[in-house]
Amino acid sequence: MIKYLGSKRRLVPVLARLCEAASARTALDLFTGTTRVAQAFKRAGALVTAVDTARYSEVFAQTYVATDADGIDLRELRDAVDALNALPGEPGYFTDTFCVRSRFFRPENGARVDAVRDAIERDHAGSPRYPLLLTSLIEAADRVDSTTGVQMAYVKEWAPRASSPLTLRVPELMRGPGTAWRADALDVVGALPSCDLAYLDPPYNQHRYFTNYHVWETLVAWDAPEHYGVACKRIDARDDETKSPFNQRRAMPEALRRVIADVRARVVVVSYNDEAWVSVEELREWCAVHGHVEVLNFDSRRYVGAQIGIHNPKGERVGTVSHVRNREHVVIAGDRNEVEHLVDAAAQVTVRA
Ligand SMILES: C[S@@+](CC[C@H](N)C(=O)[O-])C[C@H]1O[C@@H](n2cnc3c(N)ncnc32)[C@H](O)[C@@H]1O
Repeated sequence: MIKYLGSKRRLVPVLARLCEAASARTALDLFTGTTRVAQAFKRAGALVTAVDTARYSEVFAQTYVATDADGIDLRELRDAVDALNALPGEPGYFTDTFCVRSRFFRPENGARVDAVRDAIERDHAGSPRYPLLLTSLIEAADRVDSTTGVQMAYVKEWAPRASSPLTLRVPELMRGPGTAWRADALDVVGALPSCDLAYLDPPYNQHRYFTNYHVWETLVAWDAPEHYGVACKRIDARDDETKSPFNQRRAMPEALRRVIADVRARVVVVSYNDEAWVSVEELREWCAVHGHVEVLNFDSRRYVGAQIGIHNPKGERVGTVSHVRNREHVVIAGDRNEVEHLVDAAAQVTVRA
């Protein structure tokens, strides 16, 4: 899985436990990002719907949530990955934009990305392998990037991992169906079928995923967009349609309140963090429309960019961060007995800070 701001790696065991303890047969991951929570729900036996506005999240969800491993010819998939790994580099838009004009990858890896992405489009578009190979390529590129974890700045010296050759791997697929949606949560939340457990993990500040991960957007869209700035962001990053109310201080509280109110689930679980624009008290109040509310608290390390300081695009340190830890909250709402049972179940899981 890719490095991702706000990814719930540490909380996955707790969230999976909640899904099991709720005996959820259907689950929703409304802001799915890397899909790691949706994957944990699927592994726990739920029929999962994963939603996000990001193109790459949809591709991950098509791979890890919607694809039934039993429906894929694994040998064919392995052969396709081997063939892509054998392709020589062919510099194109990706190399020029993200390795020469900006420095997110070494040019030799950029040229391989160009060649592999073109081949995926040419040889696999329309086949069930298409999202799997795109996932494999994004994850391979993520392993050899030279960033602090977001695609807004690159480091002055090449990151050591950037020298490794780009190597695709066969994604680990799970058995069973699921659903992947690329959609705005606010548009679809009311139309989604009612489920046993819904998990909401929205963005919590002004940092936009569309710009932080613009390289993955472009790698999926493969539309060679015009770009601007030192990070070579997509020109449509300036358009209102690519902006989320969850990244706007004024709009976010009402957007979150509404999405919580409109989600239809027996148990609603919301992740939040003490750097957010809303308080835990507000969250408690909004979640109370679903019944009894309990809050679990976890200490967490902040994302890697925050830990290594603030840098300008040349990789020079231009600031330090005030703190490297924060507090994550998991709010659980539903029938009182069930919520108390879930809190007991979560308490048995060890979460590393
Ligand atoms: C905190 S991240 C989720 C991380 C995810 N739980 C994980 O562990 O990988 C928030 C996600 O919300 C998505 N997002 C932002 N605005 C959205 C909206 N209006 N509707 C749906 N998804 C949105 C972003 O693309 C991002 O992937």
